[in-house]
Amino acid sequence: MIKRKAEVEVILKKYGQEHLLNNFDKLDDIHKERLLEEIENIDFELIRSLYESTNKKQKKEVDKIEPMEYLDKFKLNEKYKYYENIGKKAIKEGKLAAVTMAGGQGTRLGHDGPKGTFDIGLDSHKSLFELLCDSLKEEGKKYDVTIPWFIMTSRENNADTIKFFEKHKYFGYQKDKNLFFFVQGELPMIDTEGKILLNEEGLIKQAADGHGGIYESLVKSKMTEKMKSMGIEWVFIGGVDNCLVKMVDPVLMGIAIDKKVTVACKSVVKANPHEKVGVFCKKNGRPNVIEYSEITDEMAEATDDNGELLYGESHILCNLFSVEAVERMGANPLPYHVAFKKATYMNQNGEIVVPDSPNAYKFEAFLFDAFGVVDEMAILRVKREEEFAPVKNADSAGVDCPKTARDLYNKFYHLK
Ligand code: UTP
Repeated sequence: MIKRKAEVEVILKKYGQEHLLNNFDKLDDIHKERLLEEIENIDFELIRSLYESTNKKQKKEVDKIEPMEYLDKFKLNEKYKYYENIGKKAIKEGKLAAVTMAGGQGTRLGHDGPKGTFDIGLDSHKSLFELLCDSLKEEGKKYDVTIPWFIMTSRENNADTIKFFEKHKYFGYQKDKNLFFFVQGELPMIDTEGKILLNEEGLIKQAADGHGGIYESLVKSKMTEKMKSMGIEWVFIGGVDNCLVKMVDPVLMGIAIDKKVTVACKSVVKANPHEKVGVFCKKNGRPNVIEYSEITDEMAEATDDNGELLYGESHILCNLFSVEAVERMGANPLPYHVAFKKATYMNQNGEIVVPDSPNAYKFEAFLFDAFGVVDEMAILRVKREEEFAPVKNADSAGVDCPKTARDLYNKFYHLK
């Protein structure tokens, strides 16, 4: 271990991160080995460039933003059945799987445990995971198949997630047969001086690398290989925190197949022109999602000949990809976005510091930053009240919270 430590010291010196071994002698042998291994796996060049990106004012490139065409699910007329039949056939042939991204920290909700284990307060007291599973089972029955379910966790919540599923007998699914868990990637957190932080155990403080990590982790964990070996050609990728998410949608699938696109996304129309959501657009000619802060008031309010908002299709994390598109997206590194967060850490004297204000940078990739990889994608506008009941905040926020999600769920299923 002495030789290994000496080698690590050389790397740390090169990148000005020598402090990471300050408490080394206080660790037990297992933790010593783990820390050395973690340091060996850090991409210090990446960390350096990420730190530089926090200081630099991003050079504003002038992007060409244009509206993106979409289809309205309820204005398809006779085409509705046509697409539906194409999709139904593919689903019956076992070509569709569902992927649930459940690796987020759920900081706004403030639930102690993985977000998927959260009970939104329905009479049934079912967790978000169970609600999603119910819908998958229900849909599977319609087509006489079991929709394979892949769940992305983080290193932080993986063990708790699997324990929860075990306790609930996997809600009738079979682990490693039609239910698979895989862990997303993570990146070290750094302080305002660019120094990598240590966690409470004296190991590297890491944080999940954002929902954009989905593509790379599906590939790296060999889930895409597994999908192909199972005859799966399409994956619906959605979040864990939308209790009305419709993961099996033959119309969406039929559109993707018929139009020969490898990505098809659902949207809901903005509640008002200035709603703070990302909307689909074309950026420099390629599919993209633009944040509300990036478009002018004039653009936000612009309408077409039918009075519909030109930039009105909100991205709701309900996207269908061909497995091949996932692989292509997983091969291209995505840009990281920076967030300034509160992070408990071990200081240079081995003391645990619990900050009361943000002190550390966390880096996250966004799933939609990969959309530009494809030339064309299809957008299907669906009804908010049928497919979108997000659980983001605690009830005190009054929006996108357990209460609003519960009301939407009860209304949709005519439970109350
Ligand atoms: P959000 O961006 O809303 O984040 O995730 P969050 O972690 O749930 O909540 P906050 O921001 O900390 O309050 C949208 C979806 O993407 C998943 C989440 O689990 C959720 O289903 N996600 C997010 C991941 O799987 N990994 C991540 O690193 C981030």
